[in-house]
Amino acid sequence: METIPSPAVGAGPAAATEAAASAAAAPRPKQAFGPEARAAVYRAIFERRDMRHFAGGKVDPETLRRLLTAAHQAPSVGFMQPWRFIRVQDRALREKLRQAVERERLETARALGQREDEFMRLKVEGLLDAAELLVVCLADGRERHVFGRRTLPQMDLASASCAIQNLWLAARAEGLGMGWVSLFDPAELASLLGLPPGAEPIALLCLGPVHEFYAEPMLQQQRWASRQPLAELVFDEGWGQASTLFDSLDSSAAAASDVAILGDQGLPA
Ligand SMILES: Cc1cc2nc3c(=O)[nH]c(=O)nc-3n(C[C@H](O)[C@H](O)[C@H](O)COP(=O)(O)O)c2cc1C
Repeated sequence: METIPSPAVGAGPAAATEAAASAAAAPRPKQAFGPEARAAVYRAIFERRDMRHFAGGKVDPETLRRLLTAAHQAPSVGFMQPWRFIRVQDRALREKLRQAVERERLETARALGQREDEFMRLKVEGLLDAAELLVVCLADGRERHVFGRRTLPQMDLASASCAIQNLWLAARAEGLGMGWVSLFDPAELASLLGLPPGAEPIALLCLGPVHEFYAEPMLQQQRWASRQPLAELVFDEGWGQASTLFDSLDSSAAAASDVAILGDQGLPA
């Protein structure tokens, strides 16, 4: 992680260079986080996992309200706040939702061709085991919101995804697991949940206590996919031009883990 330069003291060429560097660096507002708070934010980001194994139990209403409040603090295009949350507690409805996911899981497996069997071995949801099930929907009437969406209408989905990520990180900070399930036919869910025309479900969020968090993405543990080296995904000036930002790093260390990029300041032991 970058260190934030402290103001230069003293005189001479070294101080002048330092002062120039400080001047070039962004100012440090007094609301900036201290080291512990900053480390906690990075810890939540690095240790958040998509969870599919849950320990049953409950999420107390106060915590759930806090998590949803965190979601509602998300940025949104034109401040449109397109997210709506449906909390499903009814077991029969949950079972219907699980069946919808199972149908789509089988369709997905078939569509995957060669990887069908491998996919079928993966656990892709925890709908019946999670303490809470939240369905995130895009609201109806989104066509009225043009600000930031005239050429990119999908910014509503991007905004709702920000809300989900907030919830995910806040849940991790609370010691609760969350899994995002998107294996479903949106029309089927819209009908099961009585959505108005124009509204659209985008996520089934399984949320609740877990026995432990996976140490790395489950799809990586199961060798379905692995995290790509960040240095291969960052370009300078135009597509495909490798960024010099990572030149000074040991490439094997950087490729092995993004944690290497954060250095020992990034994550508390
Ligand atoms: C938009 C979105 C949809 C997802 N849908 C599913 C899903 O249907 N089933 C599932 O098991 N995981 C789903 N995931 C979780 C991803 O598989 C997971 O984020 C990825 O493997 C990386 O793991 P991590 O979240 O633990 O870092 C989804 C994630 C996102 C962001």
